[in-house]
Amino acid sequence: MNTIEWVDGKIRLLDQTRLPLEEVYLDLTDYQSLVRAIKEMRIRGAPALGVAAAYGVALGAAAIDEESKEAFESRLGPVYEAIVASRPTAVNIRWAVERMRRVASAHRDVSGVKKALLNEALAIHRQDEAINHRIGAHGADLLQGKGTVMTHCNAGALATTGYGTALGVVRATIERGTALKVMATETRPFLQGSRLTAWELARDQIDVTLITDSMAGHFLKKGDIDCVIVGADRIAANGDVANKIGTYSIAVLAKENAVPFYVAAPISTIDLSISSGEEIPIEERSPEEVLSFAGVQVAPQEVKAANPAFDITPYRYVSAIVTENGIAREPYLEELKALVEMIEE
Ligand code: MRU
Repeated sequence: MNTIEWVDGKIRLLDQTRLPLEEVYLDLTDYQSLVRAIKEMRIRGAPALGVAAAYGVALGAAAIDEESKEAFESRLGPVYEAIVASRPTAVNIRWAVERMRRVASAHRDVSGVKKALLNEALAIHRQDEAINHRIGAHGADLLQGKGTVMTHCNAGALATTGYGTALGVVRATIERGTALKVMATETRPFLQGSRLTAWELARDQIDVTLITDSMAGHFLKKGDIDCVIVGADRIAANGDVANKIGTYSIAVLAKENAVPFYVAAPISTIDLSISSGEEIPIEERSPEEVLSFAGVQVAPQEVKAANPAFDITPYRYVSAIVTENGIAREPYLEELKALVEMIEE
């Protein structure tokens, strides 16, 4: 199973809207199709979106038939813009596009830029899975010896290019010999928990129990859950976390019941340019996703529906943030900055 791949000058991605019923791969030959696929959530999850964005820039650049660097760059500008605008909350998209932009400006001739852009996208892809294994190793120190962990949405192999962030920590803990069980929330309205998390964990024979979102408090109060671990779409400098809608409620319920609440994310998800979660743009998706369930209408036609895709969990509910460079705890302002600035060995 490959979330995303570069195959013969095309982006091949696993269409996540068709899971768990069908495993269908899409071949994208232009960056506009990639932008559409991101908006339609055929690929989703912050780190996977970063890799997709990088390949999108490489694909957009390859199609520009200009010889002068100036003309080439002026046509590449709208490609960057369209990709960054595809989904606003996950900062990994902007992070990847900025990385590509720096590579483009470092080369003089157009064919050199095109090659360098593709190499950079391939490097971002390769690094992603390695980063997840490092997050997993750090996170396993926290989860070792635990019994049941709750997770929300999908921060697994499908949200990355393999292994996962939050689910990478679960996998690493199991690999170290702890028989960890997972309780996964369904994650209305897009059902990433039931369609994706349950699918990939069952495939790896990891013990998973699915619950509806409204059952989370019940199980946290009952003492059935040893800790919660989720991914993130953007983390502000003060440690506030944007993640799938419903994360905030689970974090508050976890604190109320003295259950540790962990966030696992790569450094590319940390946005030190914003001081708090208040500044994170929250994507509002179509009301249709709420008015229907798995394509079937479940509300009166004329009724209004709100559909924010993410919420902000204030840092005071977050017990620790696990990154590839180590674990941050309060005071997040200092600890996150130190992890971001850490020089890779
Ligand atoms: O709307 P989605 O499915 O892209 O939302 C995904 C999440 O909220 C994930 O938890 C987050 O991106 C982290 S993925 C490793």
